[in-house]
Amino acid sequence: MNQFNKTDLVKGDITLIYADAIVNAANSSLLGGGGVDGAIHRAGGPAILEACKKIVAAQGNCKTGNAVITTAGNLPAKFIIHTVGPVWNDGLHDEATRLANCYKNSMQLAINNQCKSIAFPNISTGIYRFPKKLAAQIAVQVVHAVLAQTKDLDKVIFVCFDEENYNYIREQLLLYI
Ligand code: APR
Repeated sequence: MNQFNKTDLVKGDITLIYADAIVNAANSSLLGGGGVDGAIHRAGGPAILEACKKIVAAQGNCKTGNAVITTAGNLPAKFIIHTVGPVWNDGLHDEATRLANCYKNSMQLAINNQCKSIAFPNISTGIYRFPKKLAAQIAVQVVHAVLAQTKDLDKVIFVCFDEENYNYIREQLLLYI
């Protein structure tokens, strides 16, 4: 199966997605926030925050580009993978590499936890103001590069909450057919 068959694109709310792992666009405190972070904590319930607090107590805050894994609480997924995207500054502060690391590290964590499917929101493209077109190029390119190197993931689902992100991701996926 080539990588194209392993990617899906959905427009909607990631808290409703049935995937082994759902990725959260968190902040370094892992204590929740607005956007998709708020939606996941609201829908998943307090068990997620409790697990995040334990992680921070044990290893400190989550650095940009890194990822941690917790229970998914009440959500249909098995796990939540919390990753901290870069705040967009001017593109000259390693933002692209840091965003790429979010996707790479989240997929690796999913593989390490025997996940067969993982769902991503458009990390950093909301409150963190990362340009959506560039973020879509990075996301799709990194996901395909990782899928080409592993047999351990069967499905990566891009879950876009807004039309603009949906169209940019769709445009990028079509390059891989
Ligand atoms: N399902 C899927 N995607 C969603 C949902 C949802 N329920 N809610 C929001 N989004 C989308 C946004 O439309 C945006 O495209 O997630 C993308 C990421 O936006 P943010 O959630 O604002 O995340 P980010 O830009 O990475 O900023 C992270 O925001 O919520 C805080 O605690 C978080 O400080 C951190 C910062």
